Amino acid sequence: METLHAVHEVRERIAAWRRQGLIVGFVPTMGNLHQGHLSLVQLAGERADRVIVSIFVNPMQFGPQEDFDRYPRTLERDCQALAQGGAQLVFAPDAAEIYPAGMNQGAVVDVPSLAGVLEGQLRPGHFPGVATVVTKLFNIVTPDLAVFGRKDYQQLLLVQRLVRDLCLPIEIIPGSTVREPDGLALSSRNQYLSAGERRRASALHDTLVAARRRIIGGERQWLEIEASALGELRSAGFDPDYFTIRSARNLQPPEPGDAELVLLVAARLGRTRLIDNVSVELE
Ligand code: PAF
Repeated sequence: METLHAVHEVRERIAAWRRQGLIVGFVPTMGNLHQGHLSLVQLAGERADRVIVSIFVNPMQFGPQEDFDRYPRTLERDCQALAQGGAQLVFAPDAAEIYPAGMNQGAVVDVPSLAGVLEGQLRPGHFPGVATVVTKLFNIVTPDLAVFGRKDYQQLLLVQRLVRDLCLPIEIIPGSTVREPDGLALSSRNQYLSAGERRRASALHDTLVAARRRIIGGERQWLEIEASALGELRSAGFDPDYFTIRSARNLQPPEPGDAELVLLVAARLGRTRLIDNVSVELE
């Protein structure tokens, strides 16, 4: 496995793969890789001849009060894991390579219908930051397919929409959320949790599962289900930003006839903000 830092080197390598007629799969990441990321790499490898993984902590998607500076940077360990995990190429640029004109980005990619709700409402500028960097990375890597985890459901939907609306010839493949035995979704941010917080953190998934059970059992009083989930989270020591039941299609409140729903939660445990979601299909 090779690690490249410059855009022009990546373009050359991909061009050589293309001349050989190889299918290129891409997994964009911010590094500090865990089993969840490696499962996305594996999925890409099942569909592509070559897998490229980018590792770039994207300043444009972090708000001023967020954890950009303390976000863990573990390139050497990540590369070892990726070499064993089946990637052929790592693209680890620095900020000047991705933002040559600095952070006063003239052109910005936005998907307003999805960027303005939930995470986007609470983290203004986050999704334009994600959409812009993902578009840049797509333009550099020109993959045939790219894998995004369901753990960041809003991001997955936004990227699917971006690709469709901008006619990018890239297949977006959703990867399943990988969980700890107690249900906590793997996330680079889990390592911020103290031992006591970690013990309580599984309540996030428990609450989603309990709400999903009520829906499967026939309840349709969304507000009531949301309110009791918020209460359960508070009792478990969380400070929730939202717990909400939405259409899986567009993240709007469910309408009669919506058969595919997603339950999404964002909550703080101490200083750590965690997000998670589960899907539910109505009969
Ligand atoms: O999900 C992430 O790690 C990031 O948002 C992404 C897609 C790599 C863009 O920076």
